[in-house]
Amino acid sequence: ETIKLFCPATIANVSCGFDVLGLCLDFGDVMTITKTSQKGISIKEITGADLPLDIKQNVAGVAGLALIERLNPDFGFEISIDKSIRAGSGIGSSAASAAGAVFGINALCGYPLSNKELVYYAMQGEALASGAPHADNVAPALLGGFTLVRSYDPLDIVPLPSPSELFVTVMHPQIELKTKDARSVLKENISLKKATIQCGNLGGLISGLYTNDYGLIGRSLHDELVEPVRSILIPYFNELKLAAANSGALGSGIAGSGPSVFALSQGQETAHETARSMSAILEATDIPFEIHISPI
Ligand code: HSE
Repeated sequence: ETIKLFCPATIANVSCGFDVLGLCLDFGDVMTITKTSQKGISIKEITGADLPLDIKQNVAGVAGLALIERLNPDFGFEISIDKSIRAGSGIGSSAASAAGAVFGINALCGYPLSNKELVYYAMQGEALASGAPHADNVAPALLGGFTLVRSYDPLDIVPLPSPSELFVTVMHPQIELKTKDARSVLKENISLKKATIQCGNLGGLISGLYTNDYGLIGRSLHDELVEPVRSILIPYFNELKLAAANSGALGSGIAGSGPSVFALSQGQETAHETARSMSAILEATDIPFEIHISPI
């Protein structure tokens, strides 16, 4: 018995929701998982990326092991992954593999757990990749659309609606930025004033998603806490943001821990216009890039 899975890319944080908000994109990797008579997990091959096949060193292996420890099936799993999402791109490459592994294993066991329950096991893979078991990529990868991590302890995942005209443009400058490194520059403490601004925007964004209020979504796409510190790691960040604003995007920010930059737009045409404007910035440099447009 074999299952073939689409493992989507995701954008974590979405400006005002560091470690709690995420959204799912319509492109990603493909994973194949086959039931084996031998217990345990093995990784047969990985194409499209140079990643370890050792299950203890691989996010899919670590996430999968955490799940089989819970489910204890009397058979095993052989995983093959065809990666399209580059590691260190900021759009949830490790999350796609962790989420795919737990989803596929759960499916081959007859769906004993819900997708929400699988988030915890996928997070164990994220812990290996970034040093922190954050759920803001694996939750949207497993549930689709926008998701909120209302709480980590106890884990409480809340699926959110996506207004139908909302599109995302993702600009990926082809430099690698490790999440671990992008987390190490962050400050441990924040001021009450900054926390207040961030809470207002997170509430505003979520309210905008429920009420299809694109203006409110745009006004709320602001990051008071992380972007000012991290953006220095991203080449031409301010120029890319300005290009997005000038082309009519609702707002923009760092995709996850970067270096990708995302912009949200109302309507596909604006998302394309934003892609053209952002591309023009990096075309004038020697930085190679990829650009994607996706509904949410
Ligand atoms: N919330 C995480 C971070 C996402 O910003 O470090 C990593 O993709």
